[in-house]
Amino acid sequence: MDSMLKFHRLLKLCFLLTALCAAEASYNVGVGIADTTGPVAEIVFMGYARPEQKGSGLHLRTFSRAFIIDDGEERFVFVSVDSAMIGHGVRLAVLKKLSGRFDDMYSDKNVMISGTHTHSAPGGYMMDVLFDLTTFGFVQESFNAIVNGITKSIERAHDALVPGRIFVTQGELMGANINRSPKAYLNNPETERAKYAYNVDKTMIQLQFIAADDRSLGVINWFPVHPTSMNNTNKLVSSDNVGYASILFEKTMNKNSMVGKGSFVAAFASTNLGDVSPNTRGPRCEFTGETCSGADTCPGKHEMCFASGPGRDMFESTSMIANKMYQKALELWHGGKAKEVTGPIRVIHQYIRMPEQEAEFFNETTGNVENVTGCLPAMGYSFAAGTTDGPGSFSFEQGTTTSNPLWNAIRDFLAAPSKEDVLCHGAKPILLATGRMVFPYEWQPQVVSTHVALLGDVIIAGVPGEFTTMSGRRLRDAIKGAMQNSASDDGVVVIAGLCNTYSDYVTTPEEYQIQRYEGASTIYGPHTLTIYLKQYKELVTALLARKSLVPGPQPPDLYSSHLISLVTPVLFDTPKWRHEFGDCLEHPAKVAGAGDTVTARFVAGHPRNNPMAGGSFLFIERLEDDESWKTVATDANWETKFIWKRTSIFLGSSEVTISWTIPDDVEPGEYRIRHNGNYRYILGGIYPYKGVSNHFEVVAFGSSRRKRYYFA
Ligand SMILES: *[C@@H]1O[C@H](CO)[C@@H](O)[C@H](O)[C@H]1NC(C)=O
Ligand SMILES: *[C@@H]1O[C@H](CO)[C@@H](O)[C@H](O)[C@H]1NC(C)=O
Ligand SMILES: *[C@@H]1O[C@H](CO)[C@@H](O)[C@H](O)[C@H]1NC(C)=O
Repeated sequence: MDSMLKFHRLLKLCFLLTALCAAEASYNVGVGIADTTGPVAEIVFMGYARPEQKGSGLHLRTFSRAFIIDDGEERFVFVSVDSAMIGHGVRLAVLKKLSGRFDDMYSDKNVMISGTHTHSAPGGYMMDVLFDLTTFGFVQESFNAIVNGITKSIERAHDALVPGRIFVTQGELMGANINRSPKAYLNNPETERAKYAYNVDKTMIQLQFIAADDRSLGVINWFPVHPTSMNNTNKLVSSDNVGYASILFEKTMNKNSMVGKGSFVAAFASTNLGDVSPNTRGPRCEFTGETCSGADTCPGKHEMCFASGPGRDMFESTSMIANKMYQKALELWHGGKAKEVTGPIRVIHQYIRMPEQEAEFFNETTGNVENVTGCLPAMGYSFAAGTTDGPGSFSFEQGTTTSNPLWNAIRDFLAAPSKEDVLCHGAKPILLATGRMVFPYEWQPQVVSTHVALLGDVIIAGVPGEFTTMSGRRLRDAIKGAMQNSASDDGVVVIAGLCNTYSDYVTTPEEYQIQRYEGASTIYGPHTLTIYLKQYKELVTALLARKSLVPGPQPPDLYSSHLISLVTPVLFDTPKWRHEFGDCLEHPAKVAGAGDTVTARFVAGHPRNNPMAGGSFLFIERLEDDESWKTVATDANWETKFIWKRTSIFLGSSEVTISWTIPDDVEPGEYRIRHNGNYRYILGGIYPYKGVSNHFEVVAFGSSRRKRYYFA
């Protein structure tokens, strides 16, 4: 503590003599990573709102990545979580846990939690009725995993604090994102569009964390793209393109550490990705491969219109987009063009009740300034149509909702929108008047978190939803305007997406008129963005003037209310007849090589018994010279897959299949596949078990490559 105090004094001196201290450490910085993997089987994924998309295994473990920066007076915590979004309940629970150890050091004022927006992780942790509808209500296991993981990552960052410096840089990345609602984008004024070369942002912004002793600590990259390379047919938990980009960067920096275990932490965080898709081949009809109609439909009943690419399947597409982001980030990291961030750290936060907000809007068509207000939350018809990244979510015609017991239980209580609501939402025909739906509790938030951090002349604006490309540009311009006279011309504004509260999408008022999925999901009406522009300007102005704002109304604490959960617990497991848990039913091939995929099948318990946080369901092991086994891959590696299958619902029997695609740089030798799990005993209690496959030999060239090698 003593040295900390000295450091703080030095720091204050530094700010007075910035020029002299330019080469000294400016801040205290720390990074931390922790596992957030929840139930990998039988829980519906969050994102595509598709009840059929229930997990049945694991491809990439999900993580929370935390970054702390402190100037001796103020502290800012940025957290990027491999999750579809973050809700108020999750943040509240994290802050409560942190207060047990740190008192009021971490609060809603300085902890900004951003979801990466992966669509391939279990849901049910949001609590607002609409967001937990497709997961059959609240899922305690998902909630615990996320809350514990985020908390642990912040604790680790806290424990790792050292004197250090931060740097900022940016560059353009082409070929990794497209606009999925170009028609809405085209409704923005022509003069505005003319200022930009593309209908999505191509800039990656990078923040680098370096210790005073020059050790590389971590990096945050912001690049706008939906983590929807894995499509709505995927049933393996995955952090998708951004999560894999993080793994690739961390692997490079951490050398021989297992995934999620190294000291260097790399986040690829969400930003203004509202209308941005990674499926760069664009939308096509499912079977004919023809271009879709203007309304993104296909002729004939049974053909969907969806986007894919750039790879042959969703795994290859995920890998390609991830690699593009990783390569660009690495190039920026080594580029030598990064500018040191100097100056004070400041944070400001305010909750606002959106339906009560007022703002002024300059209507270009009429040339008039109009007074506008927010509306009670409501979802429009086009919301039911989904997007070209995931068509047909909530499609009532196909009857998917009638098979949802939660929906059945509540639909009779659905509220009709008032005349006022209809007027307020303008171009949006209301499908769900969620703001009027109070049974059994809040359907969508009315109070949202608005949050800004200032690091020297870098502004990080944490927004409570998915801003479209143009909405993000307008917000950055508004903030730059508010910063005038105080920041240097090369000040950087970062929009941190999906922070603290989730309130769906934010389009521009012009895009809203077109009512694509994003406009239909802009829940506070046409002037949602107009209100945010005013609010963030006020936050930045207050921040610079060192004025404090009222904290605003507290959102309801839904966790303390009686949450509905229709998810059945795991009742018991029994092994297959004449077998024990962990028995290997199918062994890997005796010889395999780089490029081959080996598999092993085991008698298993239900993975929900224990998600193995910080551990693994599988281990690929190599025999060392000293006869010990060394782990070369876990279930967090890209090369492995863990697939769970119920073989008898009646007996509660299941199996898991573990596969490992052998990487090119494999070290030849003797290998085995191990499975760790837990079973639930019928008379109560959860017990661990282990299983191991036969040994197999790994050679440098796989069968396909061997052939090429011998016969070339
Ligand atoms: C999802 O991707 C797979 C290929 O990995 C493809 O066969 C399937 O048609 C895609 N489905 C949708 C709805 O995108
Ligand atoms: C907008 O509101 C302000 C303040 O409440 C008021 O002075 C102004 O006249 C209003 N403008 C219009 C066009 O209604
Ligand atoms: C501008 O005013 C016109 C005429 O009243 C209206 O139709 C249009 O929706 C307004 N534009 C926006 C973006 O609100």
